[in-house]
Amino acid sequence: MPSQSVSSSLTADVVVLGAGAAGLMCAATAGYQGARVLVIDHAKKPAGKVLMSGGGRCNFTNLNTTPAHYLSRNPHFCKSALKRYTPQDFVELVERHGVEYVEKNPGQLFCAESSKEIQRVLLTELEWSGAQLHLRTQLEAVQPRADGVLLHTSLGQIDAGALVIATGGLSIPTMGATGIGYTLARQFGLEVLPTRAGLVPLTLHPEHKHLFAPLSGLSCPVAIHAGGHTFTDDLLLTHRGLSGPAVLQVSNFWQEGQEVSINWLPDLCVSTALRQERQQAAKAGLAAWLGRHLPKRLAATLYEEITLHHDPLPARLADLSNERIDQLANHLQNWVFKPAGSEGYRTAEVTLGGVATEQISSQNFAVQGLEAVRFIGEVLDVTGQLGGFNFQWAWASAVACGRSF
Ligand code: FDA
Repeated sequence: MPSQSVSSSLTADVVVLGAGAAGLMCAATAGYQGARVLVIDHAKKPAGKVLMSGGGRCNFTNLNTTPAHYLSRNPHFCKSALKRYTPQDFVELVERHGVEYVEKNPGQLFCAESSKEIQRVLLTELEWSGAQLHLRTQLEAVQPRADGVLLHTSLGQIDAGALVIATGGLSIPTMGATGIGYTLARQFGLEVLPTRAGLVPLTLHPEHKHLFAPLSGLSCPVAIHAGGHTFTDDLLLTHRGLSGPAVLQVSNFWQEGQEVSINWLPDLCVSTALRQERQQAAKAGLAAWLGRHLPKRLAATLYEEITLHHDPLPARLADLSNERIDQLANHLQNWVFKPAGSEGYRTAEVTLGGVATEQISSQNFAVQGLEAVRFIGEVLDVTGQLGGFNFQWAWASAVACGRSF
């Protein structure tokens, strides 16, 4: 570029694109290192997903984080950053800011009051670090240069020593999610792995929707299996299909067209329990037995479904053969169905796939051969399970990158 136009532009050591969890954390870290940092985001407010996360109480980390909690084509990539910035490090940060928190499930830390507390921590850190935030700002083009990048933005040109791309994934487009990070990755010659919605409710075909929709709002513990992985947690029936932590977890491993299996009674061996019941209460029927082990309305629905798919049931358990008991046990503990699909990016918590990590440094998150360009957070092909792991990845990748300036 002609030197005149460069001299009339803004300058910064680091421009961070994306004022989300990773972008704000990286900007503050780089600011504390003494770098002059600008954060730009097209959204009206910063950290939008932080605010809506964890049902409004942000599950900001998980004390039991290990690399095994992440999905990636390159499973070793996340190890170094996760080791260098741990959940305890983030806990110390929130404690320094006086945030009260609670541990819900083992290891899962939530704000006691509101997600706004985490937004406050991030914005306070940003301010203290000296980094500047520009919202409602569009990035129009990026030109790599010998000593950095030249950015064309709605603020004007920015001559930056480095560009950190922290634009997240595609989930919740209404919150400002776009695919710009993937477009830029392709511009820099990086591979972008196919993306799909993760931690997302599954939808049902009409026959099952018809069956379960009247139970909308009902939640029960199940074991759910798909794509070689099983999760035991709560399932929530909704008017569109299945949600709740068990379903969100398994959705990361489920591929379109695959079957899913549900064990409605994960704490029982139904075969053994029904044989015992047949001996002890021979006159009892299956419907009553189900009603004692499952929420009443679910028991009635599953009973109705059994009668639709199997030969008529005898009124008394005493009249069930061993073979029939095993058949019923299999039905209840390996209830196989094909989801119609998922609710997609509209409600997904995360995006699976994304920028391939093989050409990214796991130390400072720079693109190989292009030190001035960095990718951090969810835009990368690193996706955590449910439970605070995705924010921990945002913090850890951000700090590893920010400290390198
Ligand atoms: P993030 O999405 O946070 O930020 C990206 C930023 O880039 C946004 O500010 C966006 O506006 C900006 N941007 C995008 N395109 C742009 C463009 N073209 N120009 C300029 N700016 C652009 N995780 C967890 O660990 N615990 C939890 O409790 C939850 N709960 C949860 C609930 C819901 C409803 C969702 C959708 C997600 C969660 N998550 C979660 C996941 C978590 O929110 C997510 O993994 C992190 O926010 C990812 O952080 P990033 O900074 O990478 O992206």
